[in-house]
Amino acid sequence: MSNAIRLAIVDPDDNSREELKSMLLGIDRIWLEAECSRYEFFSDVVAQTEPEVGIIAIDSDVEKALKLIERLADTAPDCSVLVTSSSNDGNLILSAMRAGAKEFLAEPIKLEDLIPALERISDRRSSRGDVKSRGTTIIAVAGATGGVGTTSIAVNVGCALADNPSNSVVLVDLDLCLGDADVCLDAIADFTLLDVAQNAARMDISLLKRSLTKHSSGLFLLPRPVQLDDVDEITPDDLNRLIGLLKATFSHVVLDLSKFFGPLDRLALQLADHIVLVTQMDLPCLRNVVRLMMYFNDKDGLADKLRVVVNRVGMDQNQISFKKAEETIGREIFWKIPNDYRTMVEVRNNGVPLVEQARKQPITQEIMNLAAALDGSEKPEPEDGEAANKSGIGRWFSFGKS
Ligand SMILES: Nc1ncnc2c1ncn2[C@@H]1O[C@H](COP(=O)(O)OP(=O)(O)OP(=O)(O)O)[C@@H](O)[C@H]1O
Ligand SMILES: [Mg+2]
Repeated sequence: MSNAIRLAIVDPDDNSREELKSMLLGIDRIWLEAECSRYEFFSDVVAQTEPEVGIIAIDSDVEKALKLIERLADTAPDCSVLVTSSSNDGNLILSAMRAGAKEFLAEPIKLEDLIPALERISDRRSSRGDVKSRGTTIIAVAGATGGVGTTSIAVNVGCALADNPSNSVVLVDLDLCLGDADVCLDAIADFTLLDVAQNAARMDISLLKRSLTKHSSGLFLLPRPVQLDDVDEITPDDLNRLIGLLKATFSHVVLDLSKFFGPLDRLALQLADHIVLVTQMDLPCLRNVVRLMMYFNDKDGLADKLRVVVNRVGMDQNQISFKKAEETIGREIFWKIPNDYRTMVEVRNNGVPLVEQARKQPITQEIMNLAAALDGSEKPEPEDGEAANKSGIGRWFSFGKS
């Protein structure tokens, strides 16, 4: 629960308070500290429970509610006030904001509006240094060409993140035609991306969670649609809404992208905090990395999020050197994953992730290190000045060679 946002609500109307309460209780990342039915008592409640966010439904008595907001701005400046009302009258919104409210939501409250509002509050608090940001980390995993290990890395990084009990992780298979994340986890899902994306507008958190398949590693999975005909049914709007919902409940969303780099993949790149671009050390792959980099450099903010991960290092003695590769692509290699054919065939055939089947193997350790580096969003300090070791992973390389 350390990752939860602590909330208190006040609403004299029992019905709307219950409605809001049941919505909030469905969201894992929210901890409801207190509920209150009288404006007069709410500042005491806030003083005692010290919530990060106070939700004030103002319709029952606008004047009293506005006074309460002003009082809280004075007595509890660390509690960010979010106002709800069935009116979207501009003057009312202005009065609430002037009184000290940070966000205003129109009733009936929709999850897809509530979550971004709470995130904005959370972001403002973390940018002020009040708290560490507890937003969801979105990791988009893309490949420089087919078969480089994109799905293997997405699935196994997802399971490595889920291995930490304080994380809640979901993997969405965006390789809509030929995705095989479900095969890697030997999972038979009742629902797919199509069912969930199309019903996102009607979906609440508990229904969403019931629609996902939970793997024994703790990772939740949303597989690609069953029918090829259904692939075009999923729109970027659907995906956007779905990811908004997933952010309400998961600490990490891992997206396994297709090699088509179509509209859904491009949206995923935009929404991601980290873009893991998986490549191997051969010329065709590196040429594609350069080509993709041109696209990333062209789009605002994408290049900064790019993490080039080399997979299957050591597979071929004639592989291009890391130094040459870094010169060619014009950036450091973020991580290197060793080639381990035997282990990978075994985990693939058994449909079991590395953390469960081969935890001690260097490949698993490196996947776990990669997951940790993405999670902390910091690269470890270089151990020495050499390019090949810049991402702090020279350690395993000596393993791989021995
Ligand atoms: N580090 C590794 N060492 C050895 N084999 C690996 C490694 N990573 C992936 N593989 C193998 O490479 C093959 C392709 O992997 P994977 O399906 O993950 O690639 P992909 O990029 O998702 O492919 P696609 O383009 O079909 O989506 C699989 O057989 C997998 O077991
Ligand atoms: Mg794949």
